[in-house]
Amino acid sequence: MTLLYHELADWWPLLSAPEDYEEDAEAYALILQDACDTPPRTVLELGSGGGNNASYLKERFALTLTDLSPAMLDVSRRLNPECEHVAGDMRTLRLGCEFDAVFVQDAIGYMVSEADLMACMQTAFVHCRGGGAALFVPDYTAEVFRSSTYHGGYDGEEGRSLRYLQWDHAPAGGGTSYAIDFAYLLQEPGVPMRVLHEQHLCGLFSVDTWYRLLKEVGFEPDSLTLETEELESGSYRVFVGYKRG
Ligand SMILES: C[S@@+](CC[C@H](N)C(=O)[O-])C[C@H]1O[C@@H](n2cnc3c(N)ncnc32)[C@H](O)[C@@H]1O
Repeated sequence: MTLLYHELADWWPLLSAPEDYEEDAEAYALILQDACDTPPRTVLELGSGGGNNASYLKERFALTLTDLSPAMLDVSRRLNPECEHVAGDMRTLRLGCEFDAVFVQDAIGYMVSEADLMACMQTAFVHCRGGGAALFVPDYTAEVFRSSTYHGGYDGEEGRSLRYLQWDHAPAGGGTSYAIDFAYLLQEPGVPMRVLHEQHLCGLFSVDTWYRLLKEVGFEPDSLTLETEELESGSYRVFVGYKRG
């Protein structure tokens, strides 16, 4: 249980604003459109969080948004009231229907073992129609991981402000996970500044592992490299699974 996606979920829009996602969301939409045999209309997002990507993707697709955290779904409902929201774990969710495409962005980072990652891919596979595709967007692959720090935050309404520091640590001994330490500074009227710290555990897999697991669940695997100004490396790898009809 992370503080960020539960007790602090209401602060999410001050840590990560929809505007930060506009450019990348456009790139994801184009990849999904190219990857499907006919233009996709229905899209399932796993780990949709505060719905920042969705706030752009919904202009093109009918979205079903799912997340483990009911508090994050509430944040997303406020931003995306026209989308369907469902609580569920991306490893075990079964909605009993298919979509033209499935999308998993940074939430895929919370899959810390091969078994977890494969379970999420399986969820994507069973919800994807033949001829459709799934897009997975991890923050890193093992080949490009570097210990890095980021900081940011926003001023909100009614005197609430948040600033954060994020420190991604190199994995010890080449395992399949790395740690993110977050420090949050929370300011609101009439309350002394609060400083909180927590650590998240995230998965780190090689490109070969991504391809192998996608194949094992039945997808035809592919990948693309996208440019970004956020990462020091200047680019990141995204994975597409084609479900042949
Ligand atoms: C960084 S946030 C996602 C933000 C999202 N990309 C957006 O556009 O707002 C990561 C999300 O992953 C969710 N998450 C973590 N583990 C999960 C799991 N096993 N199944 C579903 N969601 C999960 C968290 O609850 C959190 O909302």
